[in-house]
Amino acid sequence: MKDALREACALLQQGEIVALPTETVYGLAADAFNPAAVAKVFAAKQRPAFDPLIVHIASRGDLKTVALVPADIADTVEQLTKTFWPGPLTLILPRHPAVPDLVTSGLPTVAVRQSAHPVFRAINKALGHPIAAPSANRFGRISPTSASAVIKELGGRIPLVVDAGACSEGLESTIISIEPRAGKKPIFRLHRAGPITKEQLQQFGRVEKVRDVAGQVLLAPGQLASHYAPRTPLVLLEKPADFQPEAGKRYGLLSYTGADDGPYVTLHDWDCIESLSPGGGKLAEAAIRLFFVMRTLDEAGLDAIIAEPVSETGLGVAIMDRLRRAASGTGTGTGTGTGTGTGTGTGLAKSGMADAI
Ligand code: TXA
Ligand code: MG
Repeated sequence: MKDALREACALLQQGEIVALPTETVYGLAADAFNPAAVAKVFAAKQRPAFDPLIVHIASRGDLKTVALVPADIADTVEQLTKTFWPGPLTLILPRHPAVPDLVTSGLPTVAVRQSAHPVFRAINKALGHPIAAPSANRFGRISPTSASAVIKELGGRIPLVVDAGACSEGLESTIISIEPRAGKKPIFRLHRAGPITKEQLQQFGRVEKVRDVAGQVLLAPGQLASHYAPRTPLVLLEKPADFQPEAGKRYGLLSYTGADDGPYVTLHDWDCIESLSPGGGKLAEAAIRLFFVMRTLDEAGLDAIIAEPVSETGLGVAIMDRLRRAASGTGTGTGTGTGTGTGTGTGLAKSGMADAI
């Protein structure tokens, strides 16, 4: 095993927390069976204890150590995990009593996935315990898709970041729970849109929103509107005519393709333009670049970031979800404090496995 991976594993065994790459975003990892270590994750992120963590397992066989899969959804769980694991699909299942309360925020369910990232998988396997890991950002802020973004968020608050370059998906995992139906395909409740799309899930069940008894759409406890917020106000336009600039203000455009003749690019003399999928307009590329582009615009000293919409199909659903939350969250309290630290006290270790990714 490479030095960085061994160091990360040793820290986790000692009850420490470390930032690790996954294929979606960087995660802030702790031994899921060590409540004192998990408590450090909440403290470092300034995350409220009512917001439960995702548990990552090293193999499909480990699922039984963290969840009790009911017989009536066992076949569906088998199909989903065989198809999408390792990968960016998180399943909400009845929790195994071995999982500490702090991990699930006292809920009777646990969120589980198996990461596809070779560095994460190697550490997860070597640790021999499941890993609890939320995204490695301060609560309410933009998820990090690179080691340098983790340092900006949590530098000085955690002992180590394992650097394996940029994440290959760029958006957090899709989260579903499963409702069996006698004689029919199950219903999948979509708690968070992500890289595994509705279209991909539909072959195994019917995808629906989460609703309460009154029919209101519900979200995962951590899916507050104010998530993924840059410090600069972000406005998501529905159509070009919705942009009403104020004189003397600096505006940057978060564009889809950045094409010179696009309806949003030509709308204004922008201070800067950043594109999600330069030239091509590919949703997969846009997903990978979204949080990076948001951070870049956030650091450009603008009065506002103006975002153009992408089409809400496939991965576009998850991208628009994150843009809407970023738009409703800007200017609110969480995570807007200054002085996130410049990395003092936080080691940065190259995974040495970047070529394997
Ligand atoms: O891609 C990902 O999922 C990344 C990487 C690191 O694996 N992790 C991640 O974790 O995005 P986090 O903590 O930022 O988001 C987890 C979401 C939160 O919205 C939380 O409320 C929800 O999952 N969640 C966790 N356990 C749950 C449960 N038992 N029931 C409902 N929602 C749950
Ligand atoms: Mg998060």
